[in-house]
Amino acid sequence: MNEVEELVVDLGERSYQILVGGGLIENGGTLIKPLIRHQHSIVITDQHLKNSGHLDALTSSLGNVGIEHHPFVLPPGEQTKSLEMFAELADGILQLGIERGTSIIALGGGVIGDLAGFLGATLLRGLDVIQLPTTLLAQVDSSVGGKTGINSTHGKNLIGSFHQPKLVLADIGVLDSLPARQLRAGYAEVLKYGLINRPGFFDWLEQKGQAIIAGDTDARRYAVIESCRAKAEIVEEDERESGRRALLNLGHTFGHALETMTGYGQELLHGEAVAIGMVLAFKLSASRGHCPQDDVHRVVNHLKTVDLPTSARTLQTEITADAVIAAMSRDKKVEAGTPRFVLTEGIGRAFAGVQIERAELEAFLQSELD
Ligand code: GLY
Repeated sequence: MNEVEELVVDLGERSYQILVGGGLIENGGTLIKPLIRHQHSIVITDQHLKNSGHLDALTSSLGNVGIEHHPFVLPPGEQTKSLEMFAELADGILQLGIERGTSIIALGGGVIGDLAGFLGATLLRGLDVIQLPTTLLAQVDSSVGGKTGINSTHGKNLIGSFHQPKLVLADIGVLDSLPARQLRAGYAEVLKYGLINRPGFFDWLEQKGQAIIAGDTDARRYAVIESCRAKAEIVEEDERESGRRALLNLGHTFGHALETMTGYGQELLHGEAVAIGMVLAFKLSASRGHCPQDDVHRVVNHLKTVDLPTSARTLQTEITADAVIAAMSRDKKVEAGTPRFVLTEGIGRAFAGVQIERAELEAFLQSELD
């Protein structure tokens, strides 16, 4: 194995380790074996990971240490995170005659991790889940913290539960084969941690962002472990999002609205929507006098250097203030019909739970979208 960093998410009896480094998939069996209760497992993955050989690398390593494994290879893409796919998989897995001690191993990006996590949360009222995230976004966000779920026809992630994994193995070697656009989109979530409460990390990302995108292994390892550390600290304080965890939604209230309007497809990836959303959160904060303009400029300039979008004006879909507000009011984080925003006093000084009057929001969005 190459150099590996580790940290523990400290949640009492639900604590678990996150390992970040190279060679973790091909050594997965050895790393997973001490944790699993029965030596059989269900591996949930997608066709890309089968085609790229990562599934074979994992199943060989499981076989080498005597862990039985049954793979389910799913179509890649957001449509896989559906109720229909959940039902099909649940039946398929139960048909194998699993027991409480069977583990679910998720090898994939956010879609696979969320779906496999939700299967783990629900089958037999809870199976152990091991996450092997294979996108930057999944490594720094969705595989950590225990949010699991699937989409409904009424919206994204509306059916789900909290179910912490037993182990997260973030193999940074797989990032080498990730399409550059996906990698940049994941980088937006890395940047988010600097903007929330780690100004020193943001300074470092200003220096290293382009190297992370270009493939610098040491910089990638540090960016992933530091992001996981930032997320772990927040999750440890507020596992079920009754308070501080809402900070992790910086940029997401605007971002989810933009994703809804662009149809969750190739026009705007999740991380790209978050990048634009973070800029809007900084600009809204500045317009209310919370945040210095210089910090807005630093954020926008940095996003530009890593080729992430900074404005909804460049999207093909026409984005109007009314439509953004309508989409935001359907977000699952709405309280009493009103979205809550994460705003900021500057880089690394975000605060959550802000309600904004419709007239103010409309005027702000009109000025940003016209
Ligand atoms: N992705 C935000 C959270 O896990 O809370």
